[in-house]
Amino acid sequence: MPHRFDFLVLGGGVAGLSFALQAARHGTVAVLTKRARGEGNTVHAQGGIASVLAPSDSFDAHIEDTLVAGAGLCHRDAVEVTVREGPDRVKELVALGAEFNRHTGGEFDLTREGGHSARRIIHSGDITGREVERALLAACDEQPNITFFPHTAAIDLILDPRSSSHGRSRCLGVYALLESGVIERFLARVTVLATGGAGKVYLYTTNPDVATGDGVAMAYRAGAQVANMEFYQFHPTCLYHPEAKSFLISEALRGEGGKLRLKGGQTFMERYHAMGALAPRDVVARAIDAELKRTGDECVYLDMTHLGRAFLTERFPNIYATCKAFNIDMASQPIPVVPAAHYQCGGVVTDLTGRTSVPGLYAVGEVASTGLHGANRLASNSLLEGLVFGHRAVRAASEELASLPHPKEEPPPWDAGSAVDSDESVVVSHNWDEIRRLMWNYVGIVRTDKRLMRARRRLELLREEIRDYYWRFKVTRDVIELRNIAEVAHLIVDCASRRKESRGLHFTLDYPHSDDHLGQRDTVLSRGL
Ligand code: FAD
Ligand code: SIN
Repeated sequence: MPHRFDFLVLGGGVAGLSFALQAARHGTVAVLTKRARGEGNTVHAQGGIASVLAPSDSFDAHIEDTLVAGAGLCHRDAVEVTVREGPDRVKELVALGAEFNRHTGGEFDLTREGGHSARRIIHSGDITGREVERALLAACDEQPNITFFPHTAAIDLILDPRSSSHGRSRCLGVYALLESGVIERFLARVTVLATGGAGKVYLYTTNPDVATGDGVAMAYRAGAQVANMEFYQFHPTCLYHPEAKSFLISEALRGEGGKLRLKGGQTFMERYHAMGALAPRDVVARAIDAELKRTGDECVYLDMTHLGRAFLTERFPNIYATCKAFNIDMASQPIPVVPAAHYQCGGVVTDLTGRTSVPGLYAVGEVASTGLHGANRLASNSLLEGLVFGHRAVRAASEELASLPHPKEEPPPWDAGSAVDSDESVVVSHNWDEIRRLMWNYVGIVRTDKRLMRARRRLELLREEIRDYYWRFKVTRDVIELRNIAEVAHLIVDCASRRKESRGLHFTLDYPHSDDHLGQRDTVLSRGL
């Protein structure tokens, strides 16, 4: 028998949990998470949440900073609602028990990050995401209407071929792989993608292992519109150490006065942007990339030594301790850093209520393309987006729920056909590695038509091989993820090849300038169109 709920939420990060918490007032909610329920990008967030909380700050300034970072592609309406509704969502989070750093007088200690014209980022030391996730999970645990299914990986959306509106079938839920290896149906009147980003598409990333773009891949296969996948954000400062797996060195370090230096100690950001080390992220990542190519060095350095040990241990305890564990004392030596894939600015196209182009399917958080980020996300705007859109989507989804009859459809159980256990797991690990490496080398911070063409050719072969493997052998989580990173890689290459200009995070040597005539629109892809 299938599992049936009113709302099915795929993902337990800031966006999925924000949605689940509100939706529980309107019906039963299932939250599926691919691994342990706290694991995702949210729990790794360091810097904080951007929100207009200081009397000296203004909505207009936050809107303007977001639009400038977005390089002409932000949707103004999405920016307005996010910025204006942000403070209320943050206050609700505080009311749930989330604790953020405060001054002795009780007001929030606001930090600054690249592209922000003011101090407007609330934070919990340097582990903001952990605190957000903790508070949301605790609140969800108090709701009897919410059931968690950890270690349950959605494989594909289930569509109802009989109900279609404008040629699109309604989403009925998902097939999902349980830890036991069994595949079950989870059905709901409203399905919400909150599956986060896809950093694992690239060889070097700040993202944890779950970030394999499953939501975008599933939605695309189901015919949803996907947009702006060429705008993958590279964070400028990931710890460079052979044993440190993707550890982020927060932008807040530069916000507090950290200086970027070359091996010989020279600063260089002043040659690239008037805001120096606090320029928008795309500028800093490209500048580091250019300096590494010019000098042949393997990393640059973030120097915090002038700020003193007492301040560093108090303000950045987690980063300090992690560096220390790798024998880097950030109070007395600069931290070696390199850029790494960090954030998916594009995604599944939604309106301002999280609705996608597939009836019954919503998308919130990093998986969604709401129009907020345009061609480049402003730092610390994404936890904010998860809170705002998680909340907004509930309004629309609960209205939709009220107008829908309880479904009678019983989609067929998963058909494993003649699939057998794989005898060649090396195919999975080899292809996984090849995709991530080719994306890093050919579709990274700096692109060319020729590199994109090379990537496209190789991906075509790899996708064919993966398709064949997927149908011949029993589904495992590794295979699900491999199939999805191949799909997402293909979407990034496709979007990047269509944009014949440089804008925001998409920089190509063949068209090094922005072309407002050609380029000031989203790159939208859909399988069905
Ligand atoms: P996530 O938190 O990534 O959650 C995704 C969920 O989906 C997980 O529960 C996962 O298990 C589940 N899932 C995925 N696939 C499946 C599947 N097939 N089936 C079932 N479940 C699935 N942003 C800021 O605003 N401020 C910051 O300071 C900040 N710092 C960051 C630091 C790091 C190191 C990283 C990686 C990101 C940072 N970001 C920051 C970005 C921000 O953390 C993310 O964009 C945001 O948390 C995404 O939230 P989400 O709810 O959309 O997804
Ligand atoms: C950071 O702390 O540098 C990450 C902030 C973000 O990605 O928004």
